[in-house]
Amino acid sequence: MCGIVGYMGHRKAAPLVLKGLQRLEYRGYDSAGMALYENQVVSLYKTQGKVADLAALSNFKDANQSIGMGHTRWATHGVPSDANAHPHSSNSGELTLIHNGIIENYEALKKLLVGKGYVFHSDTDTEVLVNLIEEVQKSHQYQLGKALQVALSQVVGAYAIVVFDTKKTDELVVAKLGSPLAIGMGDHEYFIASDASPFIEYTNKAVYLEDHQLAIIKQDRPPKILSIATDTFTDYYIQELELSLDAIEKGGYKHFMLKEIYEQPRAIKDTYRGRLLVEEGLIKMAGVEEHLDKFLNTKRIIIVACGTSWHAGLVAEYILEDLVRIPVEVEYASEFKYRNPVISNQDVVIAISQSGETADTLAAIKLAKEKGAFVFGVCNVVGSTISRATDAGAYTHAGPEIGVASTKAFTTQITVMSLMALRIAMAKESISVAQFKEIVNELELIPQKVEIALLLNQRILEIAHTYKTKHNCLYLGRGVNFPVALEGALKLKEISYIHAEGYPAAEMKHGPIALIDENMPVIVVAINKGYYDKTVSNIQEIISRKGKIIAIVTEGDTTVKELADHVIEVPETMECFSPLLTTIPLQLLSYHIAVLLNKNVDQPRNLAKSVTVE
Ligand code: M6R
Repeated sequence: MCGIVGYMGHRKAAPLVLKGLQRLEYRGYDSAGMALYENQVVSLYKTQGKVADLAALSNFKDANQSIGMGHTRWATHGVPSDANAHPHSSNSGELTLIHNGIIENYEALKKLLVGKGYVFHSDTDTEVLVNLIEEVQKSHQYQLGKALQVALSQVVGAYAIVVFDTKKTDELVVAKLGSPLAIGMGDHEYFIASDASPFIEYTNKAVYLEDHQLAIIKQDRPPKILSIATDTFTDYYIQELELSLDAIEKGGYKHFMLKEIYEQPRAIKDTYRGRLLVEEGLIKMAGVEEHLDKFLNTKRIIIVACGTSWHAGLVAEYILEDLVRIPVEVEYASEFKYRNPVISNQDVVIAISQSGETADTLAAIKLAKEKGAFVFGVCNVVGSTISRATDAGAYTHAGPEIGVASTKAFTTQITVMSLMALRIAMAKESISVAQFKEIVNELELIPQKVEIALLLNQRILEIAHTYKTKHNCLYLGRGVNFPVALEGALKLKEISYIHAEGYPAAEMKHGPIALIDENMPVIVVAINKGYYDKTVSNIQEIISRKGKIIAIVTEGDTTVKELADHVIEVPETMECFSPLLTTIPLQLLSYHIAVLLNKNVDQPRNLAKSVTVE
């Protein structure tokens, strides 16, 4: 969490840093700050609140400095406040630093520094770090780079940091462990950011710093990158980015979330493009191809993920078990490492993560690798930490997802997992050629069907008006649509703050049914597949208790139409792909309720897009 931006070059740093922070605000928005630097003078601006509050502090257009750094915070140590906002300065005022991550041993380090006379003005671990660097610098007379290297060797935790020293008028030093840090390589100008979005209109060339690396950036020469552990300068690879400016702007939509919901037909198509070769009756996925033996020989697959990605993993469990006939376990990544799981080199672990930065998922990956498992990553963000930490992987090609509530990530993750299941099933001959053809033909039609589901928007807005004042909501589904119920409930609670729970429809009678009365809306996914009749019985049970039913049904349904208060019809498809359609109205319903309640849809309270703390 937290977004960091830095700049050194020939442009005015302030507007560039502010715009960069706005683009990174999805990473956290408890406070914002900026430091501008010129002629050994640091100008510091910081405030609790959003980047817009920071922008209001001064007339930044008139600030001429061409070196600057900025930070948008998701609070970990210390409440959101002006004092806890970054950048933080060292006691002498000579060092200024921004930080994304957590210094786990900050209390011990703070005690040590207090013993040496340091005074602290905030509750943050970051202020400890900047003073630790100062202490190392002062006691050894080191240059900033060396002082940082030595200080970081005493630190336990995660960081992406930018620091400057007033004694060095033309230098920024950055370092990374655990949290992402990209250096945009311009022409005699350098950009630093948590991802490439702050600098994509200036350069498409970027260096992604590796863990345990430190870079010294000066305007008049290419950055020097040092391995902190070995104390040697290393070569680096300059990536050509494909990110476009359009992809990170709202493009006429009121919110990123809405834009991303509407992007799903395109995103799903991009995800299977080049992989799903319908004519040839083939699926090509390099990451799977190269390690096919692992998938064919394993006795089980373990999926680790968090939040929405975990829900996509649950959908994948149904599809993989059905098509590939290999047992699948789906684990919360956050729980995985705390129960000493039985994993061996016979296992395949699939880690699913939109951001590719989620700390819990990374920790699960590390553990799985230590135990010898083959780890496959399904990520959206190209070059992200998880995509690099795994043995192989497949990207989702959803394009940047900026709204904190995941939407297109979910449907594209299911798409990738379906492609994988089909590819492995074909190799394993666990499905016939005819079945394979039938399934891939249907998958190719999904984007078109999602377009049709999106036409339900107006109808869903009307339903949102009816239920926007409710305080609770139940979501029910069966089989492959049980995870859709979980996902629908998560979407509603995270952006509208209405309490919502997802359950397998059959579980309702084991407890949750006690909650049902005339004030309880129950959203039931009741497509005409699998246990349709049983779901209809569940609907009857809710109606008998006066609950209000909003049903997601298959086009042409007549039975549920008779029973439900509201019916939303999605196109007919195979059961395995139905989550790709049934989830669309649930995303739109949450979106509209949140908008009607005047909530900040793209930046819901207390949340951040990349959760880089465990
Ligand atoms: O980037 P990841 O997919 O690893 O993120 C996992 C969760 O933090 C994420 O899905 C979160 O639950 C979303 N806010 C849900 O909308």
